[in-house]
Amino acid sequence: MTLKELSAYIAVEFQKTYGRAPRFIAAAPGRVNVIGEHTDYNDGFVLPMAIEFYTIMAADKRLDGAGVVTLRSTSQPDAATIDLSQTINPATPKWGNYPRGVFAGFQARGVNPGGLDVLVHSTVPLGSGLSSSAALEVCTATLIEAVTGKAIDPVEKALLAQKAEHDFANVPCGIMDQFISALGREGHLLLLDCRTRQTELVPMSDPSVALLIINTNVKHELSGGEYAERRAQCEEAARNLGVKSFRDCTPEKLEQGRGKLSEVVYRRARHVIGEIERTVHAAEGIRASSWPSVGNLMYASHSSLRDDYEVSCKELDIVVEIAEDIGRTGGVYGCRMTGGGFGGCCVALVKADAVASITQKIASEYKAKTGIEAAIFSSRPAAGATIIKG
Ligand code: GLA
Repeated sequence: MTLKELSAYIAVEFQKTYGRAPRFIAAAPGRVNVIGEHTDYNDGFVLPMAIEFYTIMAADKRLDGAGVVTLRSTSQPDAATIDLSQTINPATPKWGNYPRGVFAGFQARGVNPGGLDVLVHSTVPLGSGLSSSAALEVCTATLIEAVTGKAIDPVEKALLAQKAEHDFANVPCGIMDQFISALGREGHLLLLDCRTRQTELVPMSDPSVALLIINTNVKHELSGGEYAERRAQCEEAARNLGVKSFRDCTPEKLEQGRGKLSEVVYRRARHVIGEIERTVHAAEGIRASSWPSVGNLMYASHSSLRDDYEVSCKELDIVVEIAEDIGRTGGVYGCRMTGGGFGGCCVALVKADAVASITQKIASEYKAKTGIEAAIFSSRPAAGATIIKG
């Protein structure tokens, strides 16, 4: 569904749920990361794009004037309520904690949007590494901007949403997902320097190539501890190497300090240092439309995530192997897992005129090898969060 169709849909559903038309509608996209994985919390670079899959929220002020927010979702059985007159803390149902954390962020800034009836709908596949949670957080923040009539700086908005994820969902994520959901621009990837938070738009409009997203339909769960463990290993390595972050570390420096690291921690560091470099080169390659070299960097990223960082899984590896088999002659330049890992999606850079045959081939071979039905779609780079009504 396009954003226009989605807003028509949510307006009708809001009417059915609350018996009146919504006064406010806001949306925020999910994302796919083209390259730069597990680099954001290491002061590195990332290169994501917003996708044409959104979380959308419709709302109206409450009719009874109470300072309570009621959130209903088209996909969740239980409503979440937030009492704005109290300090906002995590609660049940679990899905409500993402918006709850964002309302808490505004509360901490002294902003009270007043009681609301809200309906949430999302086309971002949940738990697939496409940042459904960041889309929900950034969408909530954008809705609050619509209701209060006060825009906040998009960087501040992304940071507020990230804090919601840390404090209310218990995931010590970096800043990539919330940044791209808030700052994405149609037709562009976003090269984000996670140390300075400077962003650069990288045009991605060559009609001869497309990005395919292949959902393995193996669910990933970043609150499972593996993500936090990787972060801790990176911090340990940086400390032992005497650098503030891996951004200050070259491959040579890593080799010199190798003796100070355990074998596992050394490999974690090698991934991050290599991935930061690959991301910078990939952005250069995209600017120059050097698709074969961008594709090679994507394959190298995948191998490093699989072998050194150990965040891939069997199904993601199978997708990448199938893509490599199809090869450049079949229209695939490169393929890698995307997002936190342990399931979720791969992203492939392909020739636009081969999308149909590649989709068909990956789908049938993946099914034959795993017994699982993959979901495969392409998306152009979409715009970031927006107020549709209000
Ligand atoms: C998750 C996190 C991001 C980032 C990626 C890995 O998506 O939310 O901040 O760390 O994993 O690149």
